[in-house]
Amino acid sequence: MIRFENVGLRYGMGPEVLRDISFHLLPGSFHFLTGRSGAGKTTLLRLLFMSLRPTRGLMYLFGQNAADLPADERAELRRRVGIVFQDFRLLDHLTTWENVALPLRVLGKFETDYRADVTELLRWVGLGDRMYAYPPVLSGGEKQRAAIARAVIGKPELLLADEPTGNVDAQMAQRLVRLFVELNRLGTSVIIATHDHQLIEQFNAPQLVLHEGRLLIR
Ligand SMILES: Nc1ncnc2c1ncn2[C@@H]1O[C@H](COP(=O)(O)OP(=O)(O)OP(=O)(O)O)[C@@H](O)[C@H]1O
Ligand SMILES: [Mg+2]
Repeated sequence: MIRFENVGLRYGMGPEVLRDISFHLLPGSFHFLTGRSGAGKTTLLRLLFMSLRPTRGLMYLFGQNAADLPADERAELRRRVGIVFQDFRLLDHLTTWENVALPLRVLGKFETDYRADVTELLRWVGLGDRMYAYPPVLSGGEKQRAAIARAVIGKPELLLADEPTGNVDAQMAQRLVRLFVELNRLGTSVIIATHDHQLIEQFNAPQLVLHEGRLLIR
């Protein structure tokens, strides 16, 4: 699914934020990604989403050398990945429902085939009464739940989530992680960046730990 060999990443002329990262993850794995603020969690997720290229080393995704792919093939691979950005990135001119349905539309599916699924998922994340609202009027936690619904609706092969429970209460956080666990049972590899130690303890999954630019698995 994922293989890094001595990957390094620096922004511009700055210091290396990630240094000599080597690891691999098998299909169907589930990990939390931890490390203090500024440790490079978002940077690592950006690499995995192919919105950054390593400045050195090799990075394989889905068996392909992702650093060297032309843009169209990168876009193709990206369709197999669901992502929850730390800043949500919902499209303000689409309703919440349309935002969540977007990945399926992009895949060329017919609305009649997914209409009920989108509505059910929105109800599940507690947005049943906000489906036709536009993102600018949603609360932070509502936006976060919409972003999560959008990331999981297409049952991607890889799910990347950057602090996906940072804006919701503990009970909702648990519910959302259960959604990721359920997706994982269906075969999706999941990586969740989080600072929430209570969640990590509750779900007791292995951790990818970033510390001083290096990655440890524990
Ligand atoms: N676009 C950028 N240009 C230059 N430096 C950057 C950029 N983005 C991040 N950095 C730096 O890279 C380092 C890692 O940042 P990153 O956002 O990956 O950390 P993080 O672990 O996600 O932190 P947080 O827990 O606060 O979200 C930080 O020192 C940050 O200042
Ligand atoms: Mg971050």
